[in-house]
Amino acid sequence: MSEQPKKMKIHTYPDPVLRAKAKPITDINGDIKALTDNMLHTMYGAPGIGLAANQVGSLDRVIVFDLKPKDKGNREPYILINPEIVEREGEVKSEEACLSVIDYSAEVRRSAEVLVRGVDINGKPVEIEADDLLAICLQHEIDHLNGVLFIDHISSLKRALYKKRLKKILNRE
Ligand code: NI
Repeated sequence: MSEQPKKMKIHTYPDPVLRAKAKPITDINGDIKALTDNMLHTMYGAPGIGLAANQVGSLDRVIVFDLKPKDKGNREPYILINPEIVEREGEVKSEEACLSVIDYSAEVRRSAEVLVRGVDINGKPVEIEADDLLAICLQHEIDHLNGVLFIDHISSLKRALYKKRLKKILNRE
């Protein structure tokens, strides 16, 4: 019998785990399966469209995503291990937010289309050709595995203003 998935703590900026580089997974064992079950459960609970291991305090190189997390009857959970962007095309700007960056969203410039390679939970190689929201989601989540946040892609002025505002928010708590 498999265990019930657990809701994990989502680490938020400026937690240093968000700045660490996640390490490639070499063995998809029970721990990795439990981790990804818990990550999906945590993502749906938030709810969010994607979650990277760093965000729950793990440095295993894995992301989970589902573009329709609120649509309970039509969920399509994806687990992607050791994901890598191998091709990029074009450019788009869109509004992004992050479960690890509280109370903030901003416009971010990304590649419009990406080709991503990785392996699934069974160790089978997968290739995803993505555009629109999926392309943005994959770039955002793979950034997390490299210690990069969407606020690293905005202007230094905007980032400074956010840091100032965050300080006030954190002082109130
Ligand atoms: Ni994020």
